Amino acid sequence: MPSSYQNRKAVKFYIEERQRTGWRNRGERVVKFAKIKPGSYILDLCCGPGFVVKVIRERVGNKGRIIGIDSSLNLIKYADRICHFKNVLFKCGNIENLDKYIDNQKFDFVIILASWNWVKNKNKIFLKVRKVLKPDGKFVFSLTGDNLYHPLTKKFSGDIEKI
Ligand SMILES: C[S@@+](CC[C@H](N)C(=O)[O-])C[C@H]1O[C@@H](n2cnc3c(N)ncnc32)[C@H](O)[C@@H]1O
Repeated sequence: MPSSYQNRKAVKFYIEERQRTGWRNRGERVVKFAKIKPGSYILDLCCGPGFVVKVIRERVGNKGRIIGIDSSLNLIKYADRICHFKNVLFKCGNIENLDKYIDNQKFDFVIILASWNWVKNKNKIFLKVRKVLKPDGKFVFSLTGDNLYHPLTKKFSGDIEKI
């Protein structure tokens, strides 16, 4: 798991950057791309500061359900502050153990955005995701961050491994 996201200063820097560059875009893109509907059940892996969950919550409304998992406690606390609803749950943990955090829930969509590069055992995640998807559910993932090659990204994350 990336240690940069555990560091308070780095997390503050990351959140400020996301606010400066427009935090809504990524969530709006995934809602449109995946055709997320009101009432959908969503699992957001590596949900970070909850910006994407916040936009998705606007779309799924009261009848949907969203669970976000991230290994950074600072980011999970922030996410819970900015997106506090009965049907939204944030859990701090490693997504490699995602089954530990969701009981027997099945999802319409499992998403992982701007985080795939951090995932060590990708096959394991594919298998676990398949188990928690509804039969017609979809796994949506983006391969890179929005600013992957921006100098500030490098400053924050160091050199990004090619996958
Ligand atoms: C670039 S951020 C993306 C946040 C969010 N998906 C978004 O698009 O706004 C990457 C996130 O992945 C999380 N992360 C990386 N590896 C993880 C793992 N194995 N389990 C849980 N979270 C992880 C980090 O803590 C960080 O919040």
